[in-house]
Amino acid sequence: MKSSKRLFGKTSDGREVYAYTITNGKISAEILDFGATLRSIYVPDKNGNTADVTVGYDDFAPYETSTAYEGKTVGRYANRLSGGRFEIDGREYNVEKNENGVTCLHGGGEFSFNFWKAENFSDSTVTFSYESEDGAFGFPGKMDAAVTFTVTERNGIEIRYRASADKDTIINFTNHTYFNLAGKGDILCHLLKINANAFTPTDKMNIPTGEIKSVASTPMDFREFKVIGRDIGSDYEQLVNAGGYDHNFCLIGEKGQMRAVAEAYDTVSGRRMTVYTDLPGVQLYTGNFIERRTGKGGRENYKNCGFCLETQYYPDTPNQKNFPQCTFRAGEEYKSATVFEFSAD
Ligand code: GLA
Repeated sequence: MKSSKRLFGKTSDGREVYAYTITNGKISAEILDFGATLRSIYVPDKNGNTADVTVGYDDFAPYETSTAYEGKTVGRYANRLSGGRFEIDGREYNVEKNENGVTCLHGGGEFSFNFWKAENFSDSTVTFSYESEDGAFGFPGKMDAAVTFTVTERNGIEIRYRASADKDTIINFTNHTYFNLAGKGDILCHLLKINANAFTPTDKMNIPTGEIKSVASTPMDFREFKVIGRDIGSDYEQLVNAGGYDHNFCLIGEKGQMRAVAEAYDTVSGRRMTVYTDLPGVQLYTGNFIERRTGKGGRENYKNCGFCLETQYYPDTPNQKNFPQCTFRAGEEYKSATVFEFSAD
């Protein structure tokens, strides 16, 4: 297996979209330059049969518009900002309110729905860079960002982010891949474990209330392996409001320190995924709003057909002073890494 580059499709205004495949000879991943989108990850099961363990589409068109952010790199501020605003040193910034005209979701989509420039493409790695203008979508500072995808020797997809701006700004990158380790059906029977003793409850707009709540004796407890579907339909306000899991978990361990934070397992295929990150939080999102439509290889995409583990700073950070902050000073470098590592047993 070798790396390759192919024309994947064209935007509605005729610009060419390329797909880059990287591999270590055992697993492979394909990334689009549009949105630095992780479109597929091919992984063998316990019998050596390879399948794509991510949710997406055969054609480019849905990637241009889908509000489900399948596989997208998300920046400059992933997740939500209440009221589409924040302050730095008392100065207020009003950013894109792309969610019901009230909140800012995923930085307004800027980094997810624009072209990145591919660089340093080799067998197992590719880097994408993106330049965001000062004031783009309301955010302060011209930002240079880069994301490097690498297939590691240990069968991990490593995603390394680097960014800095020429003014003080907020920075929070994530990847929005929906995983389905079976490569088909829904994910309600997958086992999941998250190394978090607490989560950040949200209001009806999915904005954190500011509370850091223990997961003990709640359906949010994933400290031991649990089938995702076990409690998802519980009459628990947090799950009812969000239509399932769409919550930030406060990860055990120091921010800045790479550690295993979550693990998912599909008993049928035997595929296992371990997530490592140096970030303080992870959003478990169970695809509650995925609209039914045809996905890859004729597979149906629908509610709960995949789950996301979006490693991140907690949502709405700048407006929640008790959360670990992600304001970066002019010239200061944001650096972070997340690895999705695969095995089968
Ligand atoms: C994140 C959010 C969800 C949803 C998806 C995109 O995971 O937390 O509420 O908006 O992005 O559809």
